[in-house]
Amino acid sequence: MAGDRSDSGRGEGEREAHGDAGIARAVAALRAGSLVILPTETVYGLGADAANPAAVAAIYEAKGRPRFNPLISHVADIAAAERLAIFDDRAHRLAAAFWPGPLTLVLPIRPDTPVCDLARAGLETVALRAPAHPVAQALLRAFGGPVVAPSANRSGRPSPTTFVDAVEETGVSAAAALEGGPCRVGLESTVVALLDQPRLLRPGAVTRAEIEAVIGPLAEAQDDAKRSPGRLTRHYSPEAPVRLNVEAPELGEAYLAFGPTAVVGNVLNLSPTADPREAAANLFAYLRAADRTRPTAIAVAPIPLDGLGEAINDRLIRAAGYIG
Ligand code: TXA
Ligand code: MG
Repeated sequence: MAGDRSDSGRGEGEREAHGDAGIARAVAALRAGSLVILPTETVYGLGADAANPAAVAAIYEAKGRPRFNPLISHVADIAAAERLAIFDDRAHRLAAAFWPGPLTLVLPIRPDTPVCDLARAGLETVALRAPAHPVAQALLRAFGGPVVAPSANRSGRPSPTTFVDAVEETGVSAAAALEGGPCRVGLESTVVALLDQPRLLRPGAVTRAEIEAVIGPLAEAQDDAKRSPGRLTRHYSPEAPVRLNVEAPELGEAYLAFGPTAVVGNVLNLSPTADPREAAANLFAYLRAADRTRPTAIAVAPIPLDGLGEAINDRLIRAAGYIG
């Protein structure tokens, strides 16, 4: 499924489909202070010039996002990131291991950082990521500066993992939209703060174990809501209520299964073979699909917590509204 697809294999065709003209139109839109829908390997983003406060304000407006929740600045590579923030040895090692890819680093800003205050919600830190998706890479290289891009959903809703879902969520606010196929990863990037002790602010596609293998133990982030303000609110939520760890759904409920199941009816299987990577890639699209059947609730099968399961369960718990 989506997990088998390689970015490079998919990318060439996508880039041809756009042509350089599509990238050029998107770059012109960014330079004009307008918003652009762009694919990344995690989820679709709604992008703006990180150095332009009016453009960044338009993102908060389009998403209905609280202004105390800072945005990730996207760059093509480590060299571009080093113009925005101060890298220590740990940051260098993590970036070398996982960029381009689904890891975001929160670092102290350089005094001359071009990322505007509003993009950082006034913090002296900045969140940075170099996405792997070839269309995102082409856009960032052609634009040349940092692009802030939150997930392209309206605030509180599931992140879009297809072009159609992204356009449905925030397309009305965008001057250009780049198609890049279904997102290979399907969950947002892992967010790690490297300010004092390394902290996991948001679990994601790069697992805790993979990060600890590079920089050693991550501190527990009990106060992550304060450090990563976006984590305060109910998030990723469809219209229908979400019930977790359900083996036998009730009449009227839509069911998201995981692994072999005997349940029949309104059932979508996140991964018939119980593969967490496949389940992650399908999660948000299936929450949306289940929601469209107008069920009394969306019941979700238990998903093991280890590895990528930490991020999947994090998103499900927030979709169910157990936090905030
Ligand atoms: O995969 C992703 O990261 C996607 C794609 C489009 O790249 N983007 C994304 O952005 O998920 P967003 O805005 O939905 O989530 C950014 C997260 C929020 O939890 C925010 O609070 C946190 O990063 N964040 C951003 N800047 C921060 C900072 N300076 N300190 C702490 N947390 C920060
Ligand atoms: Mg988001």
